[in-house]
Amino acid sequence: MVSFEQTTAIPTTMSTPPVLSSLSNQQIRLASRPAGSPTRDNWNFTTEPVAEPGPQGVVVQTLCLSLDPAMRGWMNEGKSYIPPVGIGEVMRAGGIGRVIASQNADFPVGALVSGSLGVQAYCALPGDQLRRAGLVRIDPRVGSLTQWLNVLGMPGMTGYFGLMDVGQPKAGETVVVSGAAGAVGQTVGQLAKLKGCRVVGIAGGQAKCDFVVKELGFDACIDYKQGPVKDGLKAHCPQGVDIYFDNVGGEILDAVLTRINRKARIIICGAISQYNNPESIQGPKNYLSLLVNRARMEGIVVFDYADRYPQAIAELAGYLKDGRMKSREDVVEGLETFPEALLKLFSGENFGKLVLKVSD
Ligand SMILES: NC(=O)c1ccc[n+]([C@@H]2O[C@H](COP(=O)([O-])OP(=O)(O)OC[C@H]3O[C@@H](n4cnc5c(N)ncnc54)[C@H](OP(=O)(O)O)[C@@H]3O)[C@@H](O)[C@H]2O)c1
Repeated sequence: MVSFEQTTAIPTTMSTPPVLSSLSNQQIRLASRPAGSPTRDNWNFTTEPVAEPGPQGVVVQTLCLSLDPAMRGWMNEGKSYIPPVGIGEVMRAGGIGRVIASQNADFPVGALVSGSLGVQAYCALPGDQLRRAGLVRIDPRVGSLTQWLNVLGMPGMTGYFGLMDVGQPKAGETVVVSGAAGAVGQTVGQLAKLKGCRVVGIAGGQAKCDFVVKELGFDACIDYKQGPVKDGLKAHCPQGVDIYFDNVGGEILDAVLTRINRKARIIICGAISQYNNPESIQGPKNYLSLLVNRARMEGIVVFDYADRYPQAIAELAGYLKDGRMKSREDVVEGLETFPEALLKLFSGENFGKLVLKVSD
């Protein structure tokens, strides 16, 4: 197995902040752009000294990283909602960390923070890059660190604003969500239930479908690996589909398009079935259903809602606290496992929000 050049003893307590010069920073950098599914050859493992924070800056020790399907898109060349990761750059990743050196009173040593830390053991951020990294303090009393990467983090925000702003659910409507047992899907389905909707998930395999219905309280779940999604929709959405929250694209999107109601809203959140497709992506064949049903299909990019995250976090944290919402995470360990761990998202091996634990 490819590994880092040297290992570093990682401090587990902040009673005495570590001397930066005694630490070395393990990093995973993009070596080349993949064609299809990423391989180990697309990554470089490097080790370098930990930089000083500089004026108004901080150094953050990475505790856990969010592994996201979007990472696959960031590895591609070309225009998107965010620039691609450059060849040779540390791979972009959101994460939770602890401030271990600081020249900024807003982020004192010991504070827990969330932000774009990168796939590395330490992240040194000069003062003028804190905002760009989206660095914010998090309160561990509100949620566990992994919940801060799930329901209270980027996936939760995506589900919240995608459903509430774009979908605009009304009580009694039927909401279908794909990737139902995953990070975004679990927030969407549970929130839609709380808003009084009938909720039908789509997920791969009996265990995930059972979890979605028995643990998360969805009304039904269609196992897309067991039979045609169209048949499942017919059985479980007798009144048609008012909102479809699409995490997967491809054939599942096409199947749902055949069952939508008049004025349906389709939220295009992602298309994970297409991300490793080396050919051009498969677009919806049945899009004329939008015309027939006077329906709407609209994309969402979560970062557009950054100003409103506190509102969503407050609501979702309330549901977590009183038990009306659950948050399931799938934690894998070790920075060096990143290349293989990322692939779990595309094989469906992750069960809940995929988190990479880097340090205690
Ligand atoms: N627009 C935004 O701002 C935004 C923000 C966050 C995420 N997203 C998107 O939201 C989607 C879900 O992300 P997530 O973080 O919540 O991931 P996730 O659902 O936790 O994990 C990905 C899941 O996708 C499913 N999957 C993989 N390949 C598939 C295929 N070929 N067909 C159907 N399902 C497949 C697998 O579940 P099964 O085992 O059930 O197949 C897998 O567990 C992704 O498309 C992501 O890009 C968008």
